[in-house]
Amino acid sequence: MDIIVHRDALLFLADLADESVDLVISSPPYFMGKEYDTSCNVDDFTAAHKLLLEHLARVVKTGGSICWQVGSHVHDNVVVPLDAIVYSVFAGHADLHLRNRIVWTFGHGMHASRRFSGRHETILWFTKGDKYHFNLDAVRVPQKYPGKKHYKGPKQGEPSGNPLGKNPGDVWEIPNVKAGHVEKTDHPCQFPVALAQRLVKALCPKNGLVIDPYMGAGSAGVAAVAEGRQFSGCDIEPRYVRIARARIKALQAGTLKTRPLNQPIHIPSKNDSVAQVPRQWLGDQIAHSEAP
Ligand SMILES: C[S@@+](CC[C@H](N)C(=O)[O-])C[C@H]1O[C@@H](n2cnc3c(N)ncnc32)[C@H](O)[C@@H]1O
Repeated sequence: MDIIVHRDALLFLADLADESVDLVISSPPYFMGKEYDTSCNVDDFTAAHKLLLEHLARVVKTGGSICWQVGSHVHDNVVVPLDAIVYSVFAGHADLHLRNRIVWTFGHGMHASRRFSGRHETILWFTKGDKYHFNLDAVRVPQKYPGKKHYKGPKQGEPSGNPLGKNPGDVWEIPNVKAGHVEKTDHPCQFPVALAQRLVKALCPKNGLVIDPYMGAGSAGVAAVAEGRQFSGCDIEPRYVRIARARIKALQAGTLKTRPLNQPIHIPSKNDSVAQVPRQWLGDQIAHSEAP
C-alpha cells in the first residue's frame, strides 16, 4: 500500500525503520522565497541538510540509493550551486558514496539579462555502501547507429555496440514542467515524472520501496507506482498532499497523463523559427541566408 501523508520531512523520516528504504528521490526547498520556504538564507539550507543526513543514511538499506535533486540558490544575481552544499554535507557520512552528478537540462526558464540563463539542475546520486543495486539494462537508450559492426580485427562483423542500447550518460535532456506541459498541476515546481522514472528503473528493485520526504505533487510517487514499486512520501502543504494522492489514484485508474521517458525533444527547424519573426526584425540574418 502506498502511503502519502501530510507531515514535516524530519518527522516523516524519524518514523521510518532502519534499513527499510531502497531509494530516496527528492527535491527539497531551495530557500528562495517560494510560498513554502521558511527562509531565504542559504545557511538555513545547509543546516536543514545536516539534520536530514543522519535520518536518510539510517533509513536507506545498505546497497540502496539517495538521489537528491537541486538547482541554484540565486539572490541579487549571485548564484550558489546547491549541489555543492549537498555534496559537502552528504559526502561527510562514511557510508555514503557519490556515484554520479547527473545534469538535468531543459529548454525553458527565467530569462537572465546579466548572466547566461540557467538551463540545468542536478541530481546527486549517492549509494549506501559499495555494493549497490544498479540495473543499467533497464534504462539503456537506442544506439546512434544501431546496426554498426566492427569492420576489422577479431570481432569483425560483430555488433560494435550493445544490442540492448547504450548507457544514457549523465546529462539528461528532459523538458521541465511549465504551463502547457501535460503533467502541470498547481504545484509551482514539479520535476517531470520521466526524471524520477529513469532513477526508479535503474536503482530500485521490483517491489522495492521509494520514498520522497518533500513530495510536492508526487512526481516521484507517480514514477515509482508506474514502475511497480512501493511509494511513501510526505509534504508540509496539505494541498500538495491532495494533488499527489489524486495523481496516484488517476495513475492507478489509467487516466493520468505523463510525458513518456525517452520521448524525443522537439527541435524547431530554421524555417519554423524564421516564419514566426517579422521580416524587418531579421535584418542581417536574411541578408546572410539569402547571400549566394
Ligand atoms: C521543490 S518542491 C518538490 C516538488 C516535487 N519534486 C514535485 O515533483 O512535485 C519542495 C516541496 O517541499 C515541501 N516542503 C517544504 N518544507 C517542507 C518540510 N519541512 N517538510 C515536508 N515538505 C516540505 C514544499 O511544500 C514543496 O512541495
